[in-house]
Amino acid sequence: MNNLIFIGFMGTGKTSISNLLSKKLNTKLIDIDILIEENKKMSISQIFEKLGEDSFRNFETETLRSLHDIKNTIISCGGGIILRKENVEYLKKIGTVILLKSKPETILNRLKNTVDRPLLNNNMNLEFIKNKMNERELLYENAKDFVIYNENKTIEFVVDEIINKIKKDNLI
Ligand code: S3P
Repeated sequence: MNNLIFIGFMGTGKTSISNLLSKKLNTKLIDIDILIEENKKMSISQIFEKLGEDSFRNFETETLRSLHDIKNTIISCGGGIILRKENVEYLKKIGTVILLKSKPETILNRLKNTVDRPLLNNNMNLEFIKNKMNERELLYENAKDFVIYNENKTIEFVVDEIINKIKKDNLI
């Protein structure tokens, strides 16, 4: 199997979908944010707070580049991975890029009681989410191989949809 890479805005379900998909396909799973936290021995929130977003973005690129020998793996990325062109070029080289999409209203609903996303901590409102999504829209679209909508569906349904699609496209 080709590496399968999940991108998409915060709260589109990358973590839960990649978790279930890796179980169903019995493949390895790498979550870039978790790798960063393990390597730096700090949470994402601590990294943003103590070292700033630029340092986090550097760690993100560094961690991505450490995956050069990875095969047959599901890779879940942080929502901002597409902000650097070099990251996108790298992702395209190492696997099939699946973009997850949900409506801003749904994203707000899923995230409103969470505190572990520094970009949203003081901005947990629809306007901010809409603006940030618009700002990134083209970057997500240009990075993707295909898109899956995670809206009014169970995680199981979305995962089966992905499995059908990758079977049909001979990616598995
Ligand atoms: C970010 C998304 C987060 C995490 C960090 C920055 C972003 O990951 O990498 O807080 O810029 O969109 P999730 O998309 O998994 O929440």
